Amino acid sequence: MLSPSNLGDPELLALANKILADSGFDIRQYKERPLKRRLAVRMRSCQVSSYEEYSRKLKDDPGEYAKLLDTLTINVTKFYRNAETYLAVFGKVLPIILEESQNRPVQIWSAGCSSGEEPYSLAIMWREFSQARGLSKECSIYATDIDAQILEKARAGIYPRSSMDEIPQKLIGKYFENRGDKYHLSQQIKDMVQFEKLDLFSRYPYREVDLIFCRNVLIYFSRQTQEDIFYKFAEALRANGFLVLGKVENMFGQMKDTFVSFDIKERIYRTVK
Ligand SMILES: C[S@@+](CC[C@H](N)C(=O)[O-])C[C@H]1O[C@@H](n2cnc3c(N)ncnc32)[C@H](O)[C@@H]1O
Repeated sequence: MLSPSNLGDPELLALANKILADSGFDIRQYKERPLKRRLAVRMRSCQVSSYEEYSRKLKDDPGEYAKLLDTLTINVTKFYRNAETYLAVFGKVLPIILEESQNRPVQIWSAGCSSGEEPYSLAIMWREFSQARGLSKECSIYATDIDAQILEKARAGIYPRSSMDEIPQKLIGKYFENRGDKYHLSQQIKDMVQFEKLDLFSRYPYREVDLIFCRNVLIYFSRQTQEDIFYKFAEALRANGFLVLGKVENMFGQMKDTFVSFDIKERIYRTVK
């Protein structure tokens, strides 16, 4: 169960409750200070100075909800972001998953996938890993985000050069076609990833997952909300499943009955048996 609210300011809480009732988006789970900073951006742009006035703006201009969501959910990402994490997963995690999965298909979930660079990097990595071993093992990759618009971009699989500065050059040549100033991802990789809209504050439809990537998403959420999400990830993972966080994120001490550290530097954790 998610904690009901993390917000101390009653006016902000009233606004948060209205947003939840109208749009289903639970901003009460955000850390208060960054939330206020981001709301201030939208309020300045709407030329209102109180949460009450902003609440009226949301009522009068339904388009404002999309802008608010855009401001709160930062979509920055790239292929092979923090490439050393992918190296660690390729070299240390995938061999374990391969051995433990035996004859069953492997399941990977990119939670908070933004425009798709992360789940597609995972698909490329899996393909490279199985090709190097001469395997044709099935791997399902689920990719979810709260932002429906960004998921449309992800499904298209067309990227600017700026999202490719960490992915090895030989993989660009192998899996992308350069047309003009854009890079089109190959259909074989696109076909490996299933995109779905999913709010991390809601229930998760996945079970028996081998590996979850959830990087640069939880940082915006309150500690209590992060903890709730960690427990839900543990439920979605199989015993001894892997969770990879972003370089800015950490597992808390009190989660040690649920997760153990596998690679501290790369923020890789495993569920306890
Ligand atoms: C900075 S991006 C991270 C993308 C990728 N994981 C990476 O590390 O490169 C954060 C993503 O989290 C998504 N997000 C924010 N709040 C969310 C929520 N409650 N549920 C699901 N996704 C959320 C945003 O829409 C955004 O696309």
